[in-house]
Amino acid sequence: MCGIVGYIGSKNSVPVLIEGLQKLEYRGYDSAGIAVYNNGSISVRKYKGRLAVLEEKLQQDTLDGCLGIGHTRWATHGEPSDVNSHPHTNCSGDIAVVHNGIIENYMQIKAFLIEKGYVFVSETDTEVLAHYVDFFYEGDLIKAVRKVLQKVRGSYAFAVISKQEPDKIVCVRKENPLIVGIGEGENYIASDIPAILAHTRKIYLLNENELTILTKDSITFLDEEDREIKKDIFEVNWDVAAAEKGGYEHFMIKEIHEQPKAVKDTMTSRIVPDSPTIKLDDIKLTKEDLEGINKIFIVACGTAYHAGMVGKYVIEKLAKIPVEVDIASEFRYRTPIVDNKTLTIIVSQSGETLDTFAALKEAKKHGSRILSVVNVVGSSIARESHDVLYTWAGPEIAVASTKAYTTQIIALYEIALHMAHLKGTLSDEQIAEIKNEMMKLPEMVKAALEHKDTIQKFATRNSNAADMFFLGRGLDYAVALEGSLKMKEISYIHAEAYAAGELKHGTIALIEPGTVVIAILTQDELFEKMVSNVKEVKARGAFVFAIAKEGNKEIETVADYTLFIPHVSDILAPIVSVIPLQLMAYYMAVEKGCDVDKPRNLAKSVTVE
Ligand code: AGP
Repeated sequence: MCGIVGYIGSKNSVPVLIEGLQKLEYRGYDSAGIAVYNNGSISVRKYKGRLAVLEEKLQQDTLDGCLGIGHTRWATHGEPSDVNSHPHTNCSGDIAVVHNGIIENYMQIKAFLIEKGYVFVSETDTEVLAHYVDFFYEGDLIKAVRKVLQKVRGSYAFAVISKQEPDKIVCVRKENPLIVGIGEGENYIASDIPAILAHTRKIYLLNENELTILTKDSITFLDEEDREIKKDIFEVNWDVAAAEKGGYEHFMIKEIHEQPKAVKDTMTSRIVPDSPTIKLDDIKLTKEDLEGINKIFIVACGTAYHAGMVGKYVIEKLAKIPVEVDIASEFRYRTPIVDNKTLTIIVSQSGETLDTFAALKEAKKHGSRILSVVNVVGSSIARESHDVLYTWAGPEIAVASTKAYTTQIIALYEIALHMAHLKGTLSDEQIAEIKNEMMKLPEMVKAALEHKDTIQKFATRNSNAADMFFLGRGLDYAVALEGSLKMKEISYIHAEAYAAGELKHGTIALIEPGTVVIAILTQDELFEKMVSNVKEVKARGAFVFAIAKEGNKEIETVADYTLFIPHVSDILAPIVSVIPLQLMAYYMAVEKGCDVDKPRNLAKSVTVE
């Protein structure tokens, strides 16, 4: 998604902006640009393509100035091009704006401004912001921005600078992330913490609609009535390395290997051995609250949705509450039956996915209690929820989500166990038994990671596959969905996940000699049925790579290759069985020379519809 960086201080802003944009590249983008104020004018340099294009141009055409804003764009309105790149300026070039999000009523505003004689050069919605600030500017940039905010509709994080007032950056956020970094005699803005971590660990998290004014020596926050707001400083405890690759070739493989720790961290202080209770941080979900809940929705996108599929099985099995899992972009438009007896669990790594955020607001509007499972502290979804259960996966930089997925499932296990305890659907002994096994998951994940050489060989042999099928039943089907998404999004191989029992109702027609099938057989109660399904595809010539629990030897006589994971109870198996699938997708992508951390067409956080 788009990335924003801004600097005001006494240093040349250009190196700060470029370095900050580099740290935001993972968000996915197709162009980059900066606007710098110096000596009475604002200079803009912006180009389609990677950040390297901008850097190269700046080597021949250097800029210097102590006030600047920068942007990496992921196109929404207007194709990727130099002219559609940000920053955008007003006609005279006195005002420059960078923006992340969508101005929904930009066409009306554009028509109005054209009527007033404004000349537009781009196809973007963002350009209207630059001209609109100009239209309202009467010597006070803050007032002009305030007037624009009263007129525009949509989602935005935007920052504006003006040559008339070169002592400030004015910025605001609505449904899109923006943070402020606190320096000594200098201050920063950014879409995400890694962009400014090299300069400061002290940040302010902006809330919705807080108008923020940065000078080099001050930071002021105004609410919608222009009243000054006092905010707490958030101390970032990530070290820079945490946001770097730490010796791995890609962020993705680093994050795959961080899962034992991420899983452990997400259990720490919540899962204490030999005790039936779960401490869900400061979540106040009481027995009485639960008695008032007759339906749970789990709503998310992509990988988070797949984690929600696991959550459904687990909550229904342990807490006996009906759960419906919904893709956020469907949920928000299908008038779901939601009321004050509904609990909506929102799952999101970034906490900024616009469809998911919108689904949250739709559910909240109809009286639902909102419990979100989020990886980014202080993200939009977290702030708008009644309760938040954070996953402690640490920053997930690779576009393909891995440790966020496994920690989301841990969080959903914690919620299910908490509910089962409150409702008495599990005895204290049963809960303690599950929790004691959960404490062993980090070691099991570590053991599953040991198979990387075998998987790398499989990837080398099969990287030219045109199609792949991922089969499973029950929780294995939920994991198959995630395995197929991983494969698609980073290796660009067409992959489909199928409920194994459903294959015979049509899709088995696609199985032919050599078709690669990944079969997941970790559910003891469904093992024999899965063996039969593997025989079905083998009979049609498929090449079958099976994932099964140690001890289930029978599958070895049927599949072409069987990878055994440590023995784990059915309900906890997804945390372990997904590891080989993540590694498989990773090594396939590497074998094919794909851009593993920044796959084509994708963004880390999709903050557009
Ligand atoms: C997963 O690998 C993808 N990057 C994508 O499906 C992602 O899970 C989805 O966009 C949801 O993102 P979120 O968890 O940040 O809301």
